[in-house]
Amino acid sequence: MIGSDREELTISPDGESLDEQPKWRQDFPIDWPQAHYLSRRDFTKFMVLISLAFTAGQFWIVVRNFLRKRRGEAPIRQIATADQLPIGGSLAFIYPEAHDTCVLVRTDEKTFVAYSQKCTHLSCAVVPQPDKNRFYCPCHEGSFDLATGAPIAGPPQRPLPRINLEVRRGGVYATGVEVKTI
Ligand code: FES
Repeated sequence: MIGSDREELTISPDGESLDEQPKWRQDFPIDWPQAHYLSRRDFTKFMVLISLAFTAGQFWIVVRNFLRKRRGEAPIRQIATADQLPIGGSLAFIYPEAHDTCVLVRTDEKTFVAYSQKCTHLSCAVVPQPDKNRFYCPCHEGSFDLATGAPIAGPPQRPLPRINLEVRRGGVYATGVEVKTI
């Protein structure tokens, strides 16, 4: 609501009093103290809601991880933000245990894939080559399909263990490990 105290009303751009202003400005003056008060209040409300949502989200992840641990499942863990990687970019991360090295690749605007970085032949580290749609193992020239992790060249016979992902609210989360034997 606009205040009735004329001293609180805005000073016009030409600095003249309100009585000197065009009729439209006299009819619709801006009450700056009131406007600022509303802005601050709305901003505070917004920040409180964002904080609550963030806290609830973190709490939910902690509860889910606790339940998953009891069931012997891998934890849910944020490994990147969605805007952290350009298309074709990759990122090494550790999951689910400290010695499990993995690699995340963004293959297009909405698609991320992640696999264990250990080659299924003799455990050398594979290297993502998105431009060739593959992971490459330099030890014995093995290759794995980028989209599926399946072996496509060289000695490896088994696919790379796949890290299940969830992308939500701008975050990329690892949610489990899928090991295929063929
Ligand atoms: S260790 Fe990867 S191809 Fe042999």
